[in-house]
Amino acid sequence: MKVLLVGNGAREHIIGKSVKRSSKNPDLAVFASAHNPGLMELAASYQIGEMSDKTAIIDFAQRQKVDWAIIGPEACLAQGLVDDLEQAGIMAVGPSQALAQIETSKSFARELFKEYHIPVNPEFMIFDSPDGVEEWLDHLRGQFVIKPDGLTGGKGVKVAGDHFKTMNEGLEIIRQLLDLGQRVVLEEKLIGQEFSLMTFTDGRHAVHLPAAQDNKRALAGDLGPNTGGMGSYACADFSLPFLTPDDIKAAQKINEQVIDALKSKTGRPYRGILYGNFIAVNKGVKIIEYNARFGDPEVMNVLTVLRSDFTDICQGIIRGNLDKVKVYFENAATVCKYLVPAGYPLNPVKDVTINVGAVDQQKVDIYYAAVDQKKDGLYLTGSRAVALVAKHPDLFAAEKIVEAEIDKVIGPLQHRRDIGTPKLINSRMESLKKIRS
Ligand code: AMP
Ligand code: GLY
Repeated sequence: MKVLLVGNGAREHIIGKSVKRSSKNPDLAVFASAHNPGLMELAASYQIGEMSDKTAIIDFAQRQKVDWAIIGPEACLAQGLVDDLEQAGIMAVGPSQALAQIETSKSFARELFKEYHIPVNPEFMIFDSPDGVEEWLDHLRGQFVIKPDGLTGGKGVKVAGDHFKTMNEGLEIIRQLLDLGQRVVLEEKLIGQEFSLMTFTDGRHAVHLPAAQDNKRALAGDLGPNTGGMGSYACADFSLPFLTPDDIKAAQKINEQVIDALKSKTGRPYRGILYGNFIAVNKGVKIIEYNARFGDPEVMNVLTVLRSDFTDICQGIIRGNLDKVKVYFENAATVCKYLVPAGYPLNPVKDVTINVGAVDQQKVDIYYAAVDQKKDGLYLTGSRAVALVAKHPDLFAAEKIVEAEIDKVIGPLQHRRDIGTPKLINSRMESLKKIRS
């Protein structure tokens, strides 16, 4: 078996490792835009190219005679890579361009939930011009969120109170977007606790993964700008400390409803990973957004505890018989922390080397992200650099293990010490308790 893997972040590193762990001894053909040392070690062939170059990716896949493909980054899904691979006779884990709209268009997603009566929307309206914007913002009483209608790498959304303080500041941001011809979704600001629940699906059957919580703010105490995600944790019971069993059941059912709605809307089954970014609110759960791929860093929590053969799951997704695949997860907690360049995300240092050589890989797994392996060392390229992941029956023990190993990494890096600590988790439990009381 030979598998094409597209992408070169930490997400793809653990996907590659999970493929290689299969008892079927598959070979990996990796198409990447940088030299990820972890993936290079796993890959039988490693091709450097642009993620946007579909022709080069398909050409590589055909030369390598891959049996199937798995796509990491959303940008590739947005460009219809899966459609083109299929045209070339290569089936992929990942949705077609039309189905990926669940992530690539916030307005498509909100309208879909509305049309199919899936009760997860905040109040929202979609605007292509300033007409009616002020009235809508008045209606939302200034508590609103501005979402450009496209992929923004987790950095385009602006939230009242966080990114702008007054109605006028918000209006200015909206005007600038509309002037650029950008469609915007203006929605009610939801108050609660966010969590991620991902589902494997072949478009007809669903297998839910353990819930995880990402930490998007750059600095401890949930301060600083939003990032791609600074780290994440997941618990041994597959739920999260602040959630009730009903919250988890509701989130699972919502993912199933969305899978059905996508099939009705497009006429085609969604094959891949559906990632719900939920928020537990006063009553039940709502949706912040959907992603059409594994969450990064959450993938490092869920695949670390996957006990089944990952390639069986992938083939079940592709063949439409996911119901025939037995999927097991280990009851263990995981903590994943990213080391990011000093100054990330606004002014990250780059083109300097880091050294992870002293990290004890018996204790944690290392996943490489925005780094480039050159002859003289491992270079920062400006985004999240490496992730360290520990697994332990006890969540707080896992957190301590990660911290101890992070201390051994050398370079101009920063990370969030508070992710997975009792203090942060208790504050989240207290905060939701207050909202729900
Ligand atoms: P996104 O790029 O959609 O992941 O949004 C980035 C972040 O903005 C989310 O993780 C939330 O913290 C926040 N956000 C997005 N939509 C809302 C909303 N309706 N209410 C409150 N926060 C939101
Ligand atoms: N964990 C955030 C993302 O993958 O988009």
